[in-house]
Amino acid sequence: MDIGIDKIGFYVPKDYIDIVELAKARNVDPDKFTIGIGQDKQAVPQPYQDAVTMAASSADSILTSEDKKDIGLLIVGTESSVDESKSSAAFLMDLLELPEDIRAFEIKQACYGATAGLQSAYDFVSLNPDKKALVIATDIARYGIKTPGEVTQGAGSVAMIISKDPRVLKLDHKSVYMTRNVGDFWRPTFSKTAFARGKFSNQVYVDFFQTLWQKFQNKYSMTADDFSTMLFHIPYTKMGTKALRTLEETVSDTKYAELTKHYQESIKFSREVGNLYTGSLYLGLLSYLVYGAQPNEQLLLFSYGSGAVGELYSAKVQPDFEQVVDKSALQKMLTNRQKLSISNYEKMYQIEYQDGTIVDPITVDTKFYLSEIKENERLYKKSK
Ligand code: HMG
Repeated sequence: MDIGIDKIGFYVPKDYIDIVELAKARNVDPDKFTIGIGQDKQAVPQPYQDAVTMAASSADSILTSEDKKDIGLLIVGTESSVDESKSSAAFLMDLLELPEDIRAFEIKQACYGATAGLQSAYDFVSLNPDKKALVIATDIARYGIKTPGEVTQGAGSVAMIISKDPRVLKLDHKSVYMTRNVGDFWRPTFSKTAFARGKFSNQVYVDFFQTLWQKFQNKYSMTADDFSTMLFHIPYTKMGTKALRTLEETVSDTKYAELTKHYQESIKFSREVGNLYTGSLYLGLLSYLVYGAQPNEQLLLFSYGSGAVGELYSAKVQPDFEQVVDKSALQKMLTNRQKLSISNYEKMYQIEYQDGTIVDPITVDTKFYLSEIKENERLYKKSK
């Protein structure tokens, strides 16, 4: 039975900052941020947006009432959870008007969460072929103002429906994975911003990719010639380039040129959005589906979550993917955003809603929003 991604949707907040303006405000040569890091814009969420509201938005963009009847599993992958106990998935039941006979929960393992969700969804559909699974990646990547990680922030969500006979991407069930206890990046429960050993995290990322690529080739007797495209977790777009470069001496010039061209197509969205943490690999997939993918193309996907878990797996683009992926809607979402000045971004960054906050709906310009914090419980609403 063929199983994989049947639909894929994306949500990005409406506000962004310009990376050249950020560089100037930080007294950094803009080329460092646009070339050295490889970013152009960075998505900035409003204070009434969080992992839950963004997840609702990305899922809402693809779910039909027919899908809602068939979904038996809902997994939210996030490291920006709003509650230490209740999962984001539980909040989504009301916002998305889902029926009760669903197994719903949240998964956390840094940027690996969505891939863990996807692989669990694969198993679920294998056992329940008439059911579908909804997997949502949703995060706000934050390192803090004037930190080295600031240029690699971002926010947004990717939602995927996993089913049999998928129309977007068939998972091949060829996968290698590994876990090591590594201190490259972490966020203690008291902190809204992450801590990172930045350069060390880059080394661990590349080491995981190289180790897994070797394992994959050994396990399946395959080489780079079996793939036309490699997609990477993209915390910032230069990161995937660093991993790809490790192949340069091992593959033909033609293959390296092909992989590089396709990688460039896969990072167009990320350059405009920044790090989605667990959604980043899937934002790269979406970008590639919009700008480069061909029917029946064989892809290799590298998922990496600090801490650290890595997984390398293969998948096949489906013949009719273009009928399911709404390219112009995705492009429009990115072009219809508004630029925030760096000083307004800094002001917004400091806003933190406390218990007792009631958000005035007149000030909200998103479909789903945090409406109130009452007795320390977060309450959400859908705009009329
Ligand atoms: P930094 O100290 O600002 O960077 O930190 P740098 O000084 O190393 O410079 C970066 C690059 O810009 C270098 O290129 C410079 O040469 C270049 P590279 O050697 O890397 O190829 N450069 C210039 N280029 C053109 N013109 C110039 C110029 N000046 C310098 N004038 C760092 C960068 C990414 C480390 C920092 O932003 C950071 O700590 N980010 C957060 C951590 C991170 O994103 N790590 C990625 C791997 S871990 C991961 O992917 C997991 C993660 O997503 C979390 C999760 O799993 O949940 C993060």
